[in-house]
Amino acid sequence: LQGTCEELNMGGLEDAGGTKSGNPTITSVMVVIAMEAEALPSVETLKLVEDDQSSVFPKGAPWKKYSGKMDSGLVVHIVVPGKDKILGVDSVGTVPSSLLTYAAGVALQPDLIINAGTAGAFQAKGATIGDVYIATEFAHHDRRIPIPVFDKYGIGTMEAIPMDALIKDLKLKHGKLSTGNSLDMTVQDEEHIKANDATVKDMEGAAVAYVADLLAIPMISLKAVTDIVDGTKPTVEEFLENMSTAASALSRTVPLVLEYVFGRTVSEL
Ligand code: ADE
Repeated sequence: LQGTCEELNMGGLEDAGGTKSGNPTITSVMVVIAMEAEALPSVETLKLVEDDQSSVFPKGAPWKKYSGKMDSGLVVHIVVPGKDKILGVDSVGTVPSSLLTYAAGVALQPDLIINAGTAGAFQAKGATIGDVYIATEFAHHDRRIPIPVFDKYGIGTMEAIPMDALIKDLKLKHGKLSTGNSLDMTVQDEEHIKANDATVKDMEGAAVAYVADLLAIPMISLKAVTDIVDGTKPTVEEFLENMSTAASALSRTVPLVLEYVFGRTVSEL
């Protein structure tokens, strides 16, 4: 681990071969992860250190930031929305992850944002527990506004940046991701997820993609499968059972992706 917190916060300001405008080489990455249990194995693998976030986050926010510099020179920040102030559980869902991505993205100015976490997925689309998927497209399945054009706005389909080389070289599974604010899946949700042609179902991805686009920062989503949404096991049981398997899979894949992106431009991914 090298570098002071101040240096680490400057990932977006320095210019070592690339510039912030145009197509810079990637030298700093911010990884947004909703749950602590999803984040800590990666924090440990990458030897990141929780640092003083007072300069970056609003006073009193439960958000946490773990930072470090990899041997390659890549500056990495993992940010998590932390525990709900009243209930003490992880602040999952689109609202906390959007706010966190916005505030931390503005402050840290990373060259790339990765949203990593766990997800449900469809076995009919080839998914199995512990697979890590990279998202090729984002959409929402719980923003139903049946008025012309607002209907499309609600779904909010966004294409991911092309990552053919990354997918091929790291042999990653890939598929469309549909986001909603519920862990379970109603019949209506299922209809919309299928209309989105999604392989993977999560609670943050499309929101983080929206904010990254707003900030004009390229974004990648990496989701490890905890539960099969078209299987026979109850979702909650399967999710809890496979949480640590999926978090370990993430902690193996996130460093590989970080290594791969370092020194490349987005158009080389
Ligand atoms: N995260 C893990 N499993 C999920 C599911 N089935 N739906 C939404 N988010 C999830």
